[in-house]
Amino acid sequence: MKALVLSGGAGTRLRPITHTRAKQLVPVANKPVLFYGLEAIASAGIKQVGIIVGDTAAEIQAAVGDGSGFGLEVTYMRQEAPLGLAHCVLVARDFLGDDDFVMYLGDNLLQQDLADFVARFEAQRARAIAPRLGEEGPIVPSAQILLKRVDDPQRFGVAELDTTGRVTHLVEKPTVPPSDLALVGVYLFDARIHDAVAAIEPSARGELEITDAIQWLIDEGEVVLSEILEGWWIDMGKLTPLLEANRLLLEGIERRVDGDVDSESQLHGRVVVEAGARVVRSHIRGPAVIGVGTEVVDSYVGPFSAIGPGCLIQHSEIEHSVVMGTSRVVNAGRIEDSLLGYDVEVTRSARRPRATRLMVGDHCMLDLL
Ligand code: DAU
Repeated sequence: MKALVLSGGAGTRLRPITHTRAKQLVPVANKPVLFYGLEAIASAGIKQVGIIVGDTAAEIQAAVGDGSGFGLEVTYMRQEAPLGLAHCVLVARDFLGDDDFVMYLGDNLLQQDLADFVARFEAQRARAIAPRLGEEGPIVPSAQILLKRVDDPQRFGVAELDTTGRVTHLVEKPTVPPSDLALVGVYLFDARIHDAVAAIEPSARGELEITDAIQWLIDEGEVVLSEILEGWWIDMGKLTPLLEANRLLLEGIERRVDGDVDSESQLHGRVVVEAGARVVRSHIRGPAVIGVGTEVVDSYVGPFSAIGPGCLIQHSEIEHSVVMGTSRVVNAGRIEDSLLGYDVEVTRSARRPRATRLMVGDHCMLDLL
């Protein structure tokens, strides 16, 4: 079993952050989204991982390296343009060979462990290869997908099942969804998928859709199994899911203080203060993370905040927010429900006349007091 991780694409819905950065490297609870996926792959016992990269290749490669930090052997494959998820399988043809593989979308975050999902697929296929005496005719699944009941299925690929849980029909982002079962960005395939991705045509949005490739398998009489995900799942496309993912992951942290906290500061609950961070005359209410080398001075950091490395938070209050790193928030009043990128400066000066002075890039969003 190999893994194919998709880390190309454009990330238009998380602009302006993704003007300059790969959306898969946006930190959640101070760790890039992509790293959670790679850790899940490693703990499922998979070693060989192919990563599809696009324009942000250099950044992804700098962050993940050769994969040894995760216990993985990583091979990078360049996709010239974001031509679709099924196109990524075409690009990875040589790397994948005829092996079974898990395809993992680098911007998806799942609570559920991958190991059981993979083990059930392998067990089903192994049983089919060597059926026990007296067993009924084997079912040989050539794909297995993961589904989640959602309120807004039109944003996703959507599946219809028969009564046994076999997939009968799939459609990508339908205006009238046939069910509330969205396709989660984790798929298991055998080598038959290569015939499928070679056979399909680009969709109306000009992409080779993996949903169309799986539909092709079904139409060819292949068995596509499904499982319904019980835990949470976040597709990181937008700000609200990103903050929600941050909240869910911070729920799971344990208190750890490796940095300095002065005697006039108070930490409440599960707070992580990383090495080299300083908390001075401040209150931090967990769950919250203060990144390496960050200073929090005369400030309040409230629940569900992840402050990245090298920041300064001074005379300010911040809650339910992600600050990615090396940013300064000084005399800023209270900030909530916000995402700040790298090297951002939010400040209130004494300059006259009093005014809001902005230098804001494309696709930013400001909600003023
Ligand atoms: O998140 C689950 C959804 O992911 C599924 O429900 C949909 O069926 C599936 O099509 C996909 O939809 P999205 O529109 O959200 O996919 P997105 O364009 O965001 O791409 C997902 C990941 O794959 C992301 O990390 C970028 C990467 N990617 C995407 C494309 C189109 C590539 O590496 N190359 C590509 O060509």
